[in-house]
Amino acid sequence: MISAELLQRYAPLAVDVQEVLLTPEQIQQRVAELGQAVTRDYAGRNPLLVGVLKGVLFFMADLLRAIPIPVEVDFLAVASYSPETRSRGKVRLVKDLEADISGRHILFVEDVIDTGLTLNYLLSTLRARQPASLEVCVLFDKPEKRLINIPLKYKGFNLPDQFVVGYGLDHRERYRNLPFVGILKASAL
Ligand code: IMP
Ligand code: MG
Repeated sequence: MISAELLQRYAPLAVDVQEVLLTPEQIQQRVAELGQAVTRDYAGRNPLLVGVLKGVLFFMADLLRAIPIPVEVDFLAVASYSPETRSRGKVRLVKDLEADISGRHILFVEDVIDTGLTLNYLLSTLRARQPASLEVCVLFDKPEKRLINIPLKYKGFNLPDQFVVGYGLDHRERYRNLPFVGILKASAL
């Protein structure tokens, strides 16, 4: 249950939320568990965590702090092409990684996966650079509209096929700063 106080504090944004799906505590608990799993699996491998700006900002920050071993972080930024190429998952890299990933253990950290087209495209791009390993850690999985099956080594939560905001997820750049995750009201879409 989300506290009335928190809802009140975030009222200017929360007014557009139809239903809270995950509280800050639930998110933190799950991210801590994911951090423990990554820590166990990547000990001694100096992994590079790669995220796509901007939605992954909160998840990446919390996940990194839940991994108490040597680890590096880098970011990509993408822009979708036109609506029809977008539906095929083609994206343009507007900011590439700074790191050379060949021979590195890469953990691709993503906030949400829906059709899987975006992630699939980015994974192929990274795979071509010949990392030693390439795995995926996703916080929110919306499996109902999946078009491409992508193995997800670490997964936080399954979500219904609804448009959600908060904890980094936006609608037209807003609501990222909500500390909980909720379904956006149709009237705000
Ligand atoms: P996919 O290519 O269909 O998997 O789309 C993934 C991208 O769509 C994510 O990286 C998000 O930017 C965006 N997205 C998908 N579902 C949601 C949502 O419920 N809220 C906010 N953004 C979403
Ligand atoms: Mg994203």
